[in-house]
Amino acid sequence: MPNFSGKRIMVIGGSRGIGAAIVKAYAAEGGDVLFTYAGSREAAEALAKSTGARAIHSDAAVRDSLVAAVRDAGPIDIFVYNAGLLVAGDPLTLDPDAIDRMIDVNIRGAYHASVEAARAMPDGGRILIIGSVNGDRMPFAGLAGYAMTKSALQGMARGLARDFGARGITVNVIQPGPTDTDMNPANGPLADQMHSVMAIREHGTSEDVASLTLYLSGPAARGITGAMHTIDGGFGA
Ligand SMILES: NC(=O)c1ccc[n+]([C@@H]2O[C@H](COP(=O)([O-])OP(=O)(O)OC[C@H]3O[C@@H](n4cnc5c(N)ncnc54)[C@H](OP(=O)(O)O)[C@@H]3O)[C@@H](O)[C@H]2O)c1
Repeated sequence: MPNFSGKRIMVIGGSRGIGAAIVKAYAAEGGDVLFTYAGSREAAEALAKSTGARAIHSDAAVRDSLVAAVRDAGPIDIFVYNAGLLVAGDPLTLDPDAIDRMIDVNIRGAYHASVEAARAMPDGGRILIIGSVNGDRMPFAGLAGYAMTKSALQGMARGLARDFGARGITVNVIQPGPTDTDMNPANGPLADQMHSVMAIREHGTSEDVASLTLYLSGPAARGITGAMHTIDGGFGA
């Protein structure tokens, strides 16, 4: 793993799951880490205490609050947008407000926060967005809205890679498949259905996703941009 001493790193949505693993991994490699949370204050405070990272309360669905949190962080070398919601069900009966909040967190927040992070980002910086293999493949009913949000991130990353490439800033999407977290527990009711379409029939771990994130943040990845990086046990194969 690269060493991140002297690097300021911000993770949007870092209190639990994949985001928390990313916070821990950067902190373990010497990074100066800030992360945001919305609902999980206790988890965020415990993570801050155990890692030395700084926890900031900011709802990623509220653009002004999110943009202010990013701006107030000062120049960020590595920016990770991890916050995400999954709203599943029959599109004919799902609450439209829940779908809109998912769009706010998964897409609008990712765009506005990434642009704000790029504003003061030093040359050679990194922007990493946690998408999903569902941006490429959606083999189950009930997840059209979620898949839409993750596909949108692909176009965003391709475009922002062009916008910021001249400064040596890379923009990439990491696309996990089933990963054992509160959002998608390895022993949840849908686990067998998910495993049935995978080459490696088990959930991945948040630490797997964090490892890929750190690799893409390091100097060896300076030529990788505008790309989707799928880590899904063959879900999309
Ligand atoms: N687990 C999977 O199988 C899987 C697969 C593919 C992609 N992903 C993606 O990976 C990312 C992380 O998922 P996860 O599985 O770790 O989910 P999780 O266990 O539900 O954790 C979600 C994290 O996002 C934060 N978050 C949610 N809404 C937020 C908001 N409005 N403002 C700020 N933070 C917010 C949560 O913070 P609070 O609790 O503090 O609000 C929490 O830290 C998501 O983008 C998800 O779509 C997950």
